[in-house]
Amino acid sequence: MTKLKDLMRKTLSLSEDQVFKEDIFYLLEKTFSLSREELFIKDDLLIEESEFNKRVQEYLDGKPLYYIIGKAPFYRRDFIVKEGVTLIPRNETEELVYYVINRVSTSPNLSILDIGTGTGCIALTLDKELNNPLVDAIDISLETLEVAKENNKELNGKVNFFLGDCFAPINDKKYDIIVSNPPYIKRGNFVGESVLKYEPELALFAEEDGLAIYHKIIKDIDKHLNDDGFAIFEISPDLEEGLTKLIKEYIPSYSYEFIKDINNFVRFLVLNK
Ligand SMILES: C[S@@+](CC[C@H](N)C(=O)[O-])C[C@H]1O[C@@H](n2cnc3c(N)ncnc32)[C@H](O)[C@@H]1O
Repeated sequence: MTKLKDLMRKTLSLSEDQVFKEDIFYLLEKTFSLSREELFIKDDLLIEESEFNKRVQEYLDGKPLYYIIGKAPFYRRDFIVKEGVTLIPRNETEELVYYVINRVSTSPNLSILDIGTGTGCIALTLDKELNNPLVDAIDISLETLEVAKENNKELNGKVNFFLGDCFAPINDKKYDIIVSNPPYIKRGNFVGESVLKYEPELALFAEEDGLAIYHKIIKDIDKHLNDDGFAIFEISPDLEEGLTKLIKEYIPSYSYEFIKDINNFVRFLVLNK
């Protein structure tokens, strides 16, 4: 057993980097279930340090903090994340969720479909934040869906999950809103080392220069969107031209808008039926 204060001193002295120190505090808080203040107030506490040391080593090896801890924050809630199985939810995706909430917050009983649900972060947040929606969510990976279902249980959600490729599992069912943050990285484009090593490939890359999943969705979307319904997709800024072509080919009567994220990148496509 070690005194908490000794463990903190030893670990924090490994680097002078401020981000490193912040991350170590985060690991301390999550590993010992103590708040930042409690780490100092209870610094004489005797603790078992092996789990924490293992986590610090994983962090030094480059594993993302949220995979080490097993949870990631998204729009006021924590979601279970699993290395190699679910993507860590990104803050751009919180902007997508915010768009939907802002647009329909006063409408009750909306039906919503989330394609490529991953952790279930979009589906579950809409389920919790909107007024009695019906939310269905699809993913092509069984292992990923298992994590989404765990999140549904832990957050007391009422999302219905389906395994399959885009619209395949829902037959001809229609929705008021369709959302998707599909894999959209063109093969060969730059991707950070830690993303490549730890995040699931199925969540990152798409064929047709990143357009493959949008292609499948846009081709069939009219069959699955109610009149006056809308869809919103997270996109990569370099896909604007390719997506515009798909819209003109399959749904020329729809109005559409590309929206920038907080970093000033074109990040979302909204389709209005
Ligand atoms: C970029 S991740 C997004 C996860 C989550 N929605 C989020 O925003 O964090 C894309 C997800 O789509 C799933 N996926 C990939 N191809 C798919 C397909 N053809 N049909 C349904 N889901 C698919 C992947 O398994 C992955 O979970």
